[in-house]
Amino acid sequence: EVRMEGGPLRCWVVAGTPARVLRGWTALTGAPAVPPSWALGPQHARWGFGGEREVRRVVAGYRERGLPLSVLHLDIDHYDGHRVFTVDRERFPGLPGLAKELRAEGVRLVSIVDPAVKAEPGDAVFDAGLAVGERGAYVRDARGRVVVGEVWPGACVYPDFTDSLVREWWGSLYEERLSQGFSGVWHDMNEPVSFAAFGDPSLPRSARHVLEGAGGDHREAHNVYGLAMARAGYEGLLRLRPEERPFLFSRSGWAGLQRYGGTWSGDVSTGWPGLRASLSLVLGLGLCGVPYSGPDVGGFDGSPSPELYLRWFQLGAYLPLFRTHSAIDAGRREPWEFGPEVLEHARAALVERERLHPYFVTLSHVARLSGAPYVRPVWWTAPGDRGLRGCEDAFLLGDALLVAPVLEEGADRRVVRLPRGRWYDTVTGRAYEGPGPVVVEAPLSRIPVLARAGAVIPVRDADGELELEVWAPAPGRSGGGLVVRDPGDGWAEAGLERYVARWEGDRVVVERDGGGEGGPAVGLPVRVRGVVEGAEG
Ligand code: NOJ
Repeated sequence: EVRMEGGPLRCWVVAGTPARVLRGWTALTGAPAVPPSWALGPQHARWGFGGEREVRRVVAGYRERGLPLSVLHLDIDHYDGHRVFTVDRERFPGLPGLAKELRAEGVRLVSIVDPAVKAEPGDAVFDAGLAVGERGAYVRDARGRVVVGEVWPGACVYPDFTDSLVREWWGSLYEERLSQGFSGVWHDMNEPVSFAAFGDPSLPRSARHVLEGAGGDHREAHNVYGLAMARAGYEGLLRLRPEERPFLFSRSGWAGLQRYGGTWSGDVSTGWPGLRASLSLVLGLGLCGVPYSGPDVGGFDGSPSPELYLRWFQLGAYLPLFRTHSAIDAGRREPWEFGPEVLEHARAALVERERLHPYFVTLSHVARLSGAPYVRPVWWTAPGDRGLRGCEDAFLLGDALLVAPVLEEGADRRVVRLPRGRWYDTVTGRAYEGPGPVVVEAPLSRIPVLARAGAVIPVRDADGELELEVWAPAPGRSGGGLVVRDPGDGWAEAGLERYVARWEGDRVVVERDGGGEGGPAVGLPVRVRGVVEGAEG
């Protein structure tokens, strides 16, 4: 059922296999931006960091415990009076220095950016916005008055991102964020929000927008507001720092958001239903063409039980955006806050995430080239298998892995519905035959992750070097996989390498497809895994 209040309705129908549909949809709405490789590492955020001292303490907490951390996010509390593009100098007196120091430790800073600008003459951003073009940057009503709403800083005005002049101006403001040392941005409150005790917490429907010159009211502009803001931010970062791929993710968006970045769950509630919804959300977004997303691991509000936190963490470790985050009045989300047992299991999840980093890099490039999301429903390659259709409690991570998170309290085993073929439990090595349901062990220490027989997966070895993990094909069968070596965070062309795995007598042989004469020609260390005898299920 589709309801609308006006405007044209244009339908596109894209038919075929899921892979074909995503390719077609991507051709229509744009290829996903490839996040910089550091954005595929573990991230931590909190609304309510007390200041630089607390930020340092949290980062040191990761380092002292040997826990990898790639990104730390600063929320609105680092702003001066919640005003966008400012810094609270009392609590963050030396932000560029802090950013530099953390960067040297391998941790990047990402900044929240809200669209609403405090309506206060004398505020530098507010004044500059009034001077944009002939009519200023802000959304006006039908009588030409600037529309005023209410957000964190109090009375606020809203840039009209559907105007190219405004996008250009707004994008130039990111220079201030870069000069503070931030490496990327997190767009929030861009539905856009205007707090309301009742009724629609957004702009009035009668508000006017430029809409690329066509002109129209907020009913037409509302859904594309966040998308247009993302475009402004992305293009601004690109102009300011052309040598690096921008990192941006946004709470609101529309078809095509993936051209500029990703998204996240927003304020998912802390509880087992919230955990379950986290996975449905990432799966659904991936099928809508937005492959990079993830939840607030641990839930946004309140305090998760240690078990819930751990299960969320274990799921998050296999999602593209892997970020712990929570509200200002919520409990902590650092992995050591839930006792030694949770810490050890969270550490294992972090270590595995880092080991799989080359695979995530590969998947990010595959998403750009084909539209195929990193996180895919289990029916991705078997849309005809009715047994798999309703399955929302497990997913395929690329072609190679099937991840079956624990979404129920107290569970230490679970049913996994397998697509056709042989699947190996990646920890025990035990082989299962699909299609059909099997019961797998899911102790607190880990969630079940199964590898498809024949899969070739790029991973980091113990020294951090690239190696190929190969899961033995089923007898008489072959397999393979794709590898994109990390081309850095600029614009260097990423080459797609194809590998095949097959049996030769009692040996598994791995070859680079198109590698020519001379046997394997792999040029990478290869580790073959998977039992050959005794498949069950
Ligand atoms: C709402 C966002 O969804 C949340 O992630 C953020 O912490 C708060 N706004 C405060 O900025």
